Amino acid sequence: MCTQEGFQAQRSRLVGLLVSGSLEGFESILDWLLSWEVLSWEDYESLSLLGQPLSLLARRLLDIVWSKGTWGCEQLIAAIQEAQADGKTPEQHGRWDPHSTHPAHELQSHRPAIIRRLYSHVEGVLGLAREQGFISQYECDGIRLPVFTSSQQARRLLDLATVKANGLAAFLLQHAQELPALMALPCEAAACRKYVSKLRTTIAAQSRFLSTYDGAENLCLEDIYTENVLEARMDNGPPGSPQKSPATLGLEELFHMHGQLNKDADTVLVVGEAGSGKSTLLQRLHLLWAAGRHFQEFLFVFPFSCRQLQHLAKPLSLRTLLFEHCCWPDVGQQDVFRVLLDRPDRVLLTFDGFDEFRFRFSDGERHCSPTDPTSVQNLLFNLLQGNLLKNARKVLTSRPEAVSALLRKYVCVELGLKGFSEEGIELYMRKHHREPGVADRLLRLLRATSALHGLCRLPVFAWIASRCHRELLQDGGGSLRTTTDMYLLILQHFLLHASPPDTAPHGLGPIVLRGRLPTLLHLGCLAFRGLGTCCYVFSGKQLQAAQVDAEDISLGFLAPAKSQGVPGTSAPLEFLHITFQCFFAALFLVLSADTPPTLLRHLFNCRRPGSSPLARLLPRLCVQGSECRESGLAALLQKAEPHNLQITAAFLAGLLSREHRDLLAECQASGKALLQRHACARWCLVRSLRQHFHSIPPAVSGEAKSLHAMPRFLWLVRSLYEMQEERLAREAVRGLSVGHLKLTFCGVGPPECTALAFVLRHLRRPVALQLDHNSVGDMGVEQLLPCLGVCKALYLRDNNISDRGICKLIEHALPCEQLQKLALFNNKLTDDCAHSMAKLLACKQNFLALRLGNNRFTAVGATVLAEGLRSNSSLQFLGFWGNRVGDEGAQALAEALGGHQSLKWLSLVGNNIGSMGAQALALMLERNVVLEELCLEENHLRDEGVGSLAEGLKRNSSLKVLKLSNNCITYFGAEALLQALERNDTILEVWLRGNAFSPEEMGELSRRDTRLLF
Ligand SMILES: Nc1ncnc2c1ncn2[C@@H]1O[C@H](COP(=O)(O)OP(=O)(O)OP(=O)(O)O)[C@@H](O)[C@H]1O
Ligand SMILES: [Mg+2]
Repeated sequence: MCTQEGFQAQRSRLVGLLVSGSLEGFESILDWLLSWEVLSWEDYESLSLLGQPLSLLARRLLDIVWSKGTWGCEQLIAAIQEAQADGKTPEQHGRWDPHSTHPAHELQSHRPAIIRRLYSHVEGVLGLAREQGFISQYECDGIRLPVFTSSQQARRLLDLATVKANGLAAFLLQHAQELPALMALPCEAAACRKYVSKLRTTIAAQSRFLSTYDGAENLCLEDIYTENVLEARMDNGPPGSPQKSPATLGLEELFHMHGQLNKDADTVLVVGEAGSGKSTLLQRLHLLWAAGRHFQEFLFVFPFSCRQLQHLAKPLSLRTLLFEHCCWPDVGQQDVFRVLLDRPDRVLLTFDGFDEFRFRFSDGERHCSPTDPTSVQNLLFNLLQGNLLKNARKVLTSRPEAVSALLRKYVCVELGLKGFSEEGIELYMRKHHREPGVADRLLRLLRATSALHGLCRLPVFAWIASRCHRELLQDGGGSLRTTTDMYLLILQHFLLHASPPDTAPHGLGPIVLRGRLPTLLHLGCLAFRGLGTCCYVFSGKQLQAAQVDAEDISLGFLAPAKSQGVPGTSAPLEFLHITFQCFFAALFLVLSADTPPTLLRHLFNCRRPGSSPLARLLPRLCVQGSECRESGLAALLQKAEPHNLQITAAFLAGLLSREHRDLLAECQASGKALLQRHACARWCLVRSLRQHFHSIPPAVSGEAKSLHAMPRFLWLVRSLYEMQEERLAREAVRGLSVGHLKLTFCGVGPPECTALAFVLRHLRRPVALQLDHNSVGDMGVEQLLPCLGVCKALYLRDNNISDRGICKLIEHALPCEQLQKLALFNNKLTDDCAHSMAKLLACKQNFLALRLGNNRFTAVGATVLAEGLRSNSSLQFLGFWGNRVGDEGAQALAEALGGHQSLKWLSLVGNNIGSMGAQALALMLERNVVLEELCLEENHLRDEGVGSLAEGLKRNSSLKVLKLSNNCITYFGAEALLQALERNDTILEVWLRGNAFSPEEMGELSRRDTRLLF
């Protein structure tokens, strides 16, 4: 039994159910409802409007059946069940009367069965109906449109028969009776099964081994795959409510988050920086599917790499893309393709590395035909928009820089790939090093070298550290600080492995490097040209042009590109990872005798004094030989993907650092050229950063001057860090006179924290550092410690920080005179760090604000913290929103605050506080003479608690705002408040929204005292 009320209560679930499948599924539900006459023809027409979002149609359907009463609601539930079962059972013999005297009605009554019978014969039936004059060529073409699935075509034919009173209905009834019944479902037919099996085998083979490893080790993905932190940003609540923390997902839950951004889109976007593991995540997804372990809701999975797709120069159709560039059906191509088009909800397409696709996303050109060819970019963009293969799932991965607002319009969920957690790093190392003791030693070393540990959060760095474990363990790893250090380490590793055993056993000496200079230059030239032409996969011809020979290849930095995508080309090669390509490009710029030092200006996108914007855009006029060369190379740099240039520039800064410059000078003839390059890079960095500072708008009056940093700022800071020159860092920030440095949502992880601290600690004036909504974590907190001395406030909201990180932070904060505010909203803090907090309050008598909302504090933590409060006389703001301190915790805090001298604002919103807690807070109000705002929303105060608070208010003369929304308060409670307000004229507002008042009561209460707000 389903009552109308029950139905209404299930509405959102039903909408979810109706939109979760394809349009095809929705239409088959309509078939059943039409056949049972739940829907009238007019109803049906209003639900069959092409181009309307499915969610809108689903809601309209629910409204219609609801208006038909309980019966209508029950029938809808039954139709959903029928439609779900329909796809799974072989067809029963149709029992319609082929000679019915009311053929149109008979067609409608047996609509689901007739559609199924017509399913694989639409083309033939259309031909016959056309021949016999029942339909026109125009009508025929309208039904045949390739955007329709076979069932949709059959439906359109039946719809035509209903409105055309020319015998078409009778013809269809009779003809359908003669057609063979469909014994097996199309997707279970032999050709389809064969194809699926081939697809699985192909994908299993492609995804079994980790692709970017050189031939030296052969690692099964299964053995090495380590869970990567995947976060979905949640929808915000109503305005003003605190942002929810992002949800952490397992890979298996990739499709569990529905329509966070756009309910009608089918694309899941996974965003992560270079080397964060996007490709590996997809590879894992493919493997899990191919092995039948997960994602079995998909019958077909088609993996694509954008890097390779962009090489498809000729126009191609969807069919060509799937079959010729992914997996070819050996038999029944037509049937397999039909099934794909008919069941898009069973299809998953993955597109890896959208940032490497040289075409920017646009939605200007619509392409809906699955069989007509178009350009590869148009095909991809239309797939993502859902103009093609609507309802097929898509997963797109990209680095953040390539994600535009326009692309986001077509994305249902955006997930951030954050790299390994600390536990993840450990697990990864243990999986990689199973020999006894090695993983332990390596982990001990990583933990002792915090910059290196922070870098390993990024899987590609974890791989490098792991690959070079011997070298690391040998020299203690203490000298490794920068990304450049890491890449030089792996360079050394590869060079030494390729050298005869007796040469240079001790590290990357000049002899080894000099001996390999030609190889480095060849690879560097290839990498540099590749960046300039957005080319990451190299043909034999390109290798030849850069003089890369077999010996250079054997070094191991180039690996065969993944085979899918470009058939017919002979074994193209790619760098192990894009960061290696950037590294070699940087090496080329540093070592090549041909690169003029001034070229670096283009890399840092740095204007010369007096040069016009136009001059910056155009390659400079070739006046002299070197300028001519410069302009050619500069033109290449201007075409490169900006983010790749940034990575290259950071490597360049690292290579030109004093430490590495000497090494490079010894293997390169011209030390002078290196010095010139160094001077130019230095100049560019300082200048770029200064330009950035100058672009900051002046402070709004009454507020601190604020710098909202852009990713470019972070990149410059990282490049400065790579150079490792204290003096340069000091010089660079000399001009920075902001009071507030805002770096929210900037992808700040531990390595960025290391670089920020390196640079910011030279600030002359204290700054409020806002790092909300990043991935700082405990490792990042540790990296920030050196700049704590210049922070007057540290905002670390939503950063995955636990007790360990915060205890360390506080330990270092105690002697920091300047630090007065800490905001730690939305982290993983528990009672275990309360002692540190209490110590902070007790020791720092100039501390102003502590915000601990949405963590995991209970009464135990609150009680410990209360002790700190007793000995503190400076705190003005204390935020405890969304913890679980309960009555007991509230009591402890209230007791400590009775005589507090400075606290102006206290939030205990959403802390499970009842009347006992309220009593204690009321006593506190009686004694306290400074508190101005008390926030107690979302507790269980009820009338009893409010009664106590009202008593407290009678004797209080400091409180201005009391927030009591959502506390189950009734008129009686409000009455008590009114009485208190009569005697209290300090109070300005009492918030009472979301309590148990009728509209009339609210009206009356606010008339009696306008300070009561509803
Ligand atoms: N989950 C994982 N488990 C084990 N190793 C991983 C994992 N993710 C990544 N790696 C290692 O890190 C390397 C780089 O990862 P991957 O190529 O997937 O990064 P990416 O985000 O695709 O980078 P890019 O932006 O350059 O395409 C891989 O070759 C692999 O060795
Ligand atoms: Mg990748």
